[in-house]
Amino acid sequence: LKVDASPQLARQIPDTLFGIFFEEINHAGAGFEAGGPHTPSNIDPWSIIGDDSSIFVATDRTSCFSRNTVALRMEVLCDNCPAGGVGIYNPGFWGMNIEDGKTYNLVMYVKSPETVELTVSLTSSDGSQNLASTTIPVSGVSNWTKLEQKLVAQGTNRTSRLQITTNKKGVVWFDQVSLMPADTYKGHGFRTELISMMLDLKPRFLRFPGGCFVEGEWLRNAFRWRESIGPWEERPGHFGDVWHYWTDDGLGYYEFLQLSEDLGAAPIWVFNNGISHNDEVDTAAIAPFVKDVLDSLEFARGSADSTWGSVRAAMGHPEPFPVKYVAIGNEDCGKKFYRGNYLKFYNAIREAYPDIQMISNCDASSSPLDHPADLYDFHVYTDSKTLFSMKNTFDRSSRNGPKAFVSEYAVWRSDAGRGSLLASLAEAAFLTGLEKNSDVVQMASYAPLFVNNNDQTWNPDAIVFNSWQQYGTPSYWMQTLFGESSGAIFHPVTITSSYSGSLAASAITWQDSENSFLRIINFGSDPVSLTISATGLQARVNALGSTATVLTSSNVMDENSFSNPNKQSRCKSRLFLTLSPHSILRLPSPNSWQRCEAA
Ligand code: AHR
Repeated sequence: LKVDASPQLARQIPDTLFGIFFEEINHAGAGFEAGGPHTPSNIDPWSIIGDDSSIFVATDRTSCFSRNTVALRMEVLCDNCPAGGVGIYNPGFWGMNIEDGKTYNLVMYVKSPETVELTVSLTSSDGSQNLASTTIPVSGVSNWTKLEQKLVAQGTNRTSRLQITTNKKGVVWFDQVSLMPADTYKGHGFRTELISMMLDLKPRFLRFPGGCFVEGEWLRNAFRWRESIGPWEERPGHFGDVWHYWTDDGLGYYEFLQLSEDLGAAPIWVFNNGISHNDEVDTAAIAPFVKDVLDSLEFARGSADSTWGSVRAAMGHPEPFPVKYVAIGNEDCGKKFYRGNYLKFYNAIREAYPDIQMISNCDASSSPLDHPADLYDFHVYTDSKTLFSMKNTFDRSSRNGPKAFVSEYAVWRSDAGRGSLLASLAEAAFLTGLEKNSDVVQMASYAPLFVNNNDQTWNPDAIVFNSWQQYGTPSYWMQTLFGESSGAIFHPVTITSSYSGSLAASAITWQDSENSFLRIINFGSDPVSLTISATGLQARVNALGSTATVLTSSNVMDENSFSNPNKQSRCKSRLFLTLSPHSILRLPSPNSWQRCEAA
């Protein structure tokens, strides 16, 4: 294996090469309030404590929030209610993780014509273990009142529920009940452990909020940024009909921009272009949609005294968010009105924001586009052998014209299991091809990023979580081996071996650093011995004093799990052996050659 680090062949990889794509899929981010296609006719996810003779609960439209009119009406029927009272409870999404000593902020809106005392508790899923409890007096008024209460847990339970009970006969209305841990990342509502896993990928961009989620099966169910900003209580939420669940849009346009900032990643706003899976807006009628997108850009980039910038400022961010990329739709190339709508958006955005890079949905990897674009979107979900061979996909792409944004790639179906080593090997090989072609590939992200283990609509995914645990699949760990490539210097690698058909490799250095990395992927089932040589690199690392990072296993279908979260994770070793079958090896320098035995 030869690394040629001579200056004339060295090339800078774009700063933006590796990032992440967050889609509201698999309950990746959906908040506390749930609904569904029949909203407001059911009370899901609330359940009742009591029986038919003691309590009656239903929804009505008496809320004080004009854009979100559904409220929950609880009528207590009993004069002598059972000990502990009657009421309602909500398990969040498959139980809430309540931890001993931690503080939880409860907000709820209540209306009660008569004076009533509510007991608010955090309990185990069956109500038998009390973790935190307090009583809140509500004085009888026919106006809505906002109540805020801190609850400090006196025990730990991973699948808790929030319950609200009373002994008093009468009617109480509830709306917009929220329970959030006090210790979210930077106070912005994100779970710290999950953010930390994202940060470990060193993402240079964040593409959001979809995917198909942006399109909807029908336009009426597409993501609408305007409905997802402002006070969370006033957001109507919507039914994401592609992934079949209600989202409260508490994780809305503003929060995605905030998340990008928190991650140090460039925001990439994918907006609906008047096209869903099943219906389209005729180009002749697209003007209001174009205006809507221009407003979204003013919301992000406008000064604090502009119309929409002032809304952002009122939400707590007077400084603009640096939106430099937008994608005009998702997977819509070929739809009847795509090209016509695209041009309307493109021209209007170019005029108002000449520096914004626009991403077309049409693949230009093998033939030129018939419309202007700065980047084109490229998605691939396939089997491992095909993806391995696709490391050469961009070798023959035109060096002129728009650059590729590989915004969704993954091995799926039988090769993938629920995230296998085999899948990650093929993906790693594919990424070496993107690095090699990073003169024409500007960005790449794996998809999907997150899955709540209780709703695995799409399989596989990079990060699996439940209410209190999380782990990375091999595809996640594979990505951590590539994060440092963004902005690095690429050096060509050639492999001359009878096994070269199942090997892939890439080498990088940094402008202002002595370090270099060589990554080698053995996709085959035989161990391979390679002699490594490098021209143009100093022997900078002492082989005995350095370590290699390895992802490997004796079984290519090995997966991680909550009980064994690190079965497949990168590990470091000082052993000096051969490149084992089915492995990714990252060497800090091409003059050391090491392997980890852990897996
Ligand atoms: O990543 C899952 C889905 O795959 C995305 O929503 C869509 O863009 C693609 O079809």
